[in-house]
Amino acid sequence: MSEKKKNVLSCIQPTGDLHLGNYLGAVKNWADLQKKYDCTYGVVDYHTMTMPYKAKNLRENTWKMAFQLLACGIDDENLFIQSLIPEHAELCWILGNVCSHGRLNLMTQFKDKALQLKDKDKDAFVSGGLFYYPVMQAADILIYHADYVPIGKDQVQHLELSRDIAQRFNHQFDKEYFTHPEPLFTKNTKILSLANPEKKMSKSLGEKHYVNIFGDENRIRKQVKSAVTDTGDSEGMSPGVQNLFDLLEASGRMEAHTTLLEDYEKGTLRYSDLKSEVADGLVELCRPIRERYDEINSDKKKFKNKIKDSSNDIRKTARKTLREVKELVGILNPKD
Ligand code: TYM
Repeated sequence: MSEKKKNVLSCIQPTGDLHLGNYLGAVKNWADLQKKYDCTYGVVDYHTMTMPYKAKNLRENTWKMAFQLLACGIDDENLFIQSLIPEHAELCWILGNVCSHGRLNLMTQFKDKALQLKDKDKDAFVSGGLFYYPVMQAADILIYHADYVPIGKDQVQHLELSRDIAQRFNHQFDKEYFTHPEPLFTKNTKILSLANPEKKMSKSLGEKHYVNIFGDENRIRKQVKSAVTDTGDSEGMSPGVQNLFDLLEASGRMEAHTTLLEDYEKGTLRYSDLKSEVADGLVELCRPIRERYDEINSDKKKFKNKIKDSSNDIRKTARKTLREVKELVGILNPKD
């Protein structure tokens, strides 16, 4: 008898274009994992509402992100849009009641984002949604009984919370019901900003801090050319140079990687040579993805329909979990 495949679940926010950190830290892995596991991947539009956003862009960005994931090799039948499966929000409410306020107060991403908000706009307020964000993330994961969650290092704390919630729920309702999800990492768990290698690559830092893999080739070259290398205060290889070597490796340029690393060790490395190899590597890495994206964009309707269908299919699992959870917590009596 063949063993049941393990479940993999991961999600991404539709904040515009996919950047290199998302791709190398998570999405590239998502595509590969499909060969071995039962995979479910989501575009989490409800999560995006927790920070200031433009209502007129949200729907468009959500589809855009879904198409970009397809272009990266995610199979349409594995992909869902979070708001098309409202059971996530319902489970979130239930799980919020097995998670203490104090536990949520420990989440560092909440604190970082709250600070960011105050820096950017003194009139902006920190929403209750932002505080509750990690509970929604736990619902995304637990509703599919995920065994593994492929993520970058920045999401580790959120995953730990999901595991704690699962444990607490199982204990409180006296049943080993929820699986305890484990993270899966790529080699590139934290891609750094080219403009400030003290920080992770992220869209919230602003335009120059992330490489848009669907962006213009010349822009990618320019960004790499102006990447910060030595900041002068680090011992050994600086984070900026390490990041460039990591990008070279991730783009599959192994020969150049070995040669340039030898140059670095001999003290003869010219950063301009390293940057030019990285730029070529990234441009080539992004090109086929961009070509697939263009094809998908030429028939948006077909792909939208496919993702609506797959969301409907994936919803069946979410419904089943929610029904079982409601019975366990006493909201639903199967005999009623
Ligand atoms: P998000 O949308 O910020 O990022 C999506 C994925 O990309 C990874 N990532 C990075 N990896 C390496 N280096 C970087 N610079 C970098 N930037 C982003 C993230 O770790 C993530 O894996 N809270 C999540 C979305 C989410 C989720 C979930 C994830 C909601 N529900 C359930 C997993 C499971 C987020 O904002 O990711």
